[in-house]
Amino acid sequence: MQVSVTFSALDTLKTQCLIIPAFSSSSKGDAFKYTDQKSKGALSKAAKKIKNIAEPNTCSLLTDINNIAAQRVLVVGLGKASDLNAKKYAAGIANAIKAAKAAGATEASITCGEDVSFIKEAVISASETNYVFDDCKSTKSTAQPLAKLRFVMSERKNIKAATKAADQGLAIANGMTLAKTLGNLPGNICTPTYLADAASDLARGKRKLKTTILNEAQMKKLGMGSLLSVSRGSRQPAKLIVMEYKGGKASQKPIALVGKGLTFDAGGISIKPSAGMDEMKYDMCGAASVFGAMRACVELELPINVVGVIPSSENLPDGDANKPGDIVTSMSGQTIEILNTDAEGRLILCDALTYTERFEPAAVIDIATLTGACIVALGDQASGLMANDDKLADELLEAGQSSGDRAWRLPIWDEYQSQLDSNFADMANIGGPKAGSITAACFLARYTKKFKWAHLDIAGTAWKQGAAKGATGRPVPLLMEFLMKRARVI
Ligand code: BES
Ligand code: MN
Ligand code: ZN
Repeated sequence: MQVSVTFSALDTLKTQCLIIPAFSSSSKGDAFKYTDQKSKGALSKAAKKIKNIAEPNTCSLLTDINNIAAQRVLVVGLGKASDLNAKKYAAGIANAIKAAKAAGATEASITCGEDVSFIKEAVISASETNYVFDDCKSTKSTAQPLAKLRFVMSERKNIKAATKAADQGLAIANGMTLAKTLGNLPGNICTPTYLADAASDLARGKRKLKTTILNEAQMKKLGMGSLLSVSRGSRQPAKLIVMEYKGGKASQKPIALVGKGLTFDAGGISIKPSAGMDEMKYDMCGAASVFGAMRACVELELPINVVGVIPSSENLPDGDANKPGDIVTSMSGQTIEILNTDAEGRLILCDALTYTERFEPAAVIDIATLTGACIVALGDQASGLMANDDKLADELLEAGQSSGDRAWRLPIWDEYQSQLDSNFADMANIGGPKAGSITAACFLARYTKKFKWAHLDIAGTAWKQGAAKGATGRPVPLLMEFLMKRARVI
């Protein structure tokens, strides 16, 4: 999808589809009023035939309107102007674009008044309406995507800000698309090696992005006994994927994003029940969000340094797999008694987090589909946030709020740590039935003492179940909002 900003009067604009918002006020808003006047009342005439043209979820398609150059006019109801927010605007735009596409348009122009603050969300939701995952279907989708989206500004002074917002929205949308597709790919295609190749592909030809892949022998040399214990039960070799984006000064400390990359989690010897187990192909969505954020950083040429670290493995039952009671030694030297082989995410993340120390990061954020308990606690609305630094936690909460990709903080008080006590090793890898998301984070906290760290548990937010089963691309919007603020571009 191409996105642009133009300066034009609404009546003379040549476009396949002109999208005009209608608000539930007597004038219905400036764009409505202007187009209505120019067309000698065509819009208000249409409004009389509809119950409420300004009602949210209402899209009214008008064609052959006199004195209007657009082939079609699509009036989209947005409700009360004073109640409008980015989410409602984006939902309205998504509806309008679906209607425009259904009418055969491959290009559309939106007038958003002079308020540029919603442009980013509009671009993201437009891109979402274009997303199809048909990589594994023998017959490809014939749906025509919306190829071009234009924002029409009526004042020149706002063009610069609007263009910036549109570019940021497109980069985030493209990052989400990459994250979704990696997530949706099945476990037999998207293996650790596939992810490693995808990371090398992402860096190809990009001056500011460098990918390094560590193989199992290299990880063994580093002492990553915890990570390697998980991949022992799989025929696919584990990979440690490192992506370094250098957009800032060489002296600037990077932000590290560490993403859980379990390309399939069957649970290992502590095997999962079979119902819904296919969804464990999504156990690499943390890794996918790191890919998405890296892609967006490159596209925006963000003036900041970011390191992406992705430990990637499968977790399967096998004669050589981890057994309950096994004790492994992590790269940090701390030993772990594996009481449940299904708590494998923390086992690969702990070594990746220790590895991340070498970048002397300004902050580390790990992103992981870590616990089913997080879905019980927060459902599919918010990602769980746990952190050892209040300022970092607040920044991430705020980034979630303003991007609409929300997170909610849970405590990791020291008092929870004793749930991880082991009679035989430095710690156990599970903390019992209580506070499962918190004890998982408490485990990680033992590997993150050397830096400011936050953990996002995205078990409930990374994909949708049921008829609309599919990856969501979250939390790419949250991560990008955070990174763009740190880079001072918003
Ligand atoms: N990948 C799962 C967590 C998960 C489960 C995410 C369902 C999304 C949906 C993780 O590896 C896991 O199995 N966690 C266990 C931990 C337990 C054994 C302490 C869980 O949540 O049951
Ligand atoms: Mn598991
Ligand atoms: Zn898992």
